[in-house]
Amino acid sequence: MPDRLRPRARVAVFVSGAGTNMAALLYASRLPGVPYEIALVASNDPGADALDLAAGEGLPTFALAHRGMTRAEHDRAMGDAAKEAGADYIVLAGYMRILTPEFVARWQGRVLNIHPSLLPAYPGLDTHARAIAAGDRAGGCSVHLVTDELDSGEVLGQLAVAISPEDTAEALAARVKLAEHQLYPRVLADYVSRPYRADWLLAEVRSRAMALDEVEEKESHGAPGWKLAGKSGKFFAYFSDFHHGGSNIALLVKTSGADEQEAVIARDSDRVFSPPYYGSGGWIGIVLDRPGLDWEQVEYWLARSWRAVAPRRLSRLLDAAEEF
Ligand code: GRF
Repeated sequence: MPDRLRPRARVAVFVSGAGTNMAALLYASRLPGVPYEIALVASNDPGADALDLAAGEGLPTFALAHRGMTRAEHDRAMGDAAKEAGADYIVLAGYMRILTPEFVARWQGRVLNIHPSLLPAYPGLDTHARAIAAGDRAGGCSVHLVTDELDSGEVLGQLAVAISPEDTAEALAARVKLAEHQLYPRVLADYVSRPYRADWLLAEVRSRAMALDEVEEKESHGAPGWKLAGKSGKFFAYFSDFHHGGSNIALLVKTSGADEQEAVIARDSDRVFSPPYYGSGGWIGIVLDRPGLDWEQVEYWLARSWRAVAPRRLSRLLDAAEEF
């Protein structure tokens, strides 16, 4: 899908304090070509300066003090507010609350945080003082995915900031903030763009295709494809990055034949098409680089297509399993 046609990802920013990272994210989002927009700024502190800044910039805001609520109730209300604002991602920017596992599961892979150290060094608080006390030559900041464990999800990007011999924690913190303001918008923009990038989509498809029994990957006509292992093993899927004409990244899989191919395409013609050169064998192309791609549908078709070419010995096992 060409960049200009992609909808921008909608982001809810959770804050508790000054909101300088929120401001950096916001102003970056107003530059041309940035693939996200701020849909909501939400806080557990109705007095947070970040809320005034956001309101002054015309952003929707939401505030809910956590006192008197359980952690689960508060998290749920914050998540509901983000959902109502149409957010696809939640970005923590100085949000001083630990999120419940339920919240993290609900938004799995869609919550980012920024932390003022070069993780895995110094999770938690007082990062700058600890880096100086340890005699480190650099501190810095990290953007990471949020998981159940504090400050330990996959690191998506980092910037180092040199520590000088006479540095204080305050002076270092101020420079790290400058670095944070550069890092966060860039990492967020890259992250929300991943579902449209061929290398990321290929890796996702590959791990699912290779999880099926006795599969190997082979290039075919310049495209990565997956086949049953062995000399006579047939292809059941190809990854296709069409550069000519319609610019789609697609997964090609096999239906049971021409009738099903036609029916599936008729039912879902925006997302499924008859691939050039493959159409006659009942193949369909499923467009991958689009918003809201359903990975379960991708898995379903990979398995169906695998089964169409798998020897009886293998597909029988699957048939038996399905009878229970
Ligand atoms: C930043 O230092 C960030 O790394 C940490 O909280 C602070 C938030 O600052 N998670 P601000 O509210 O964005 O100015």
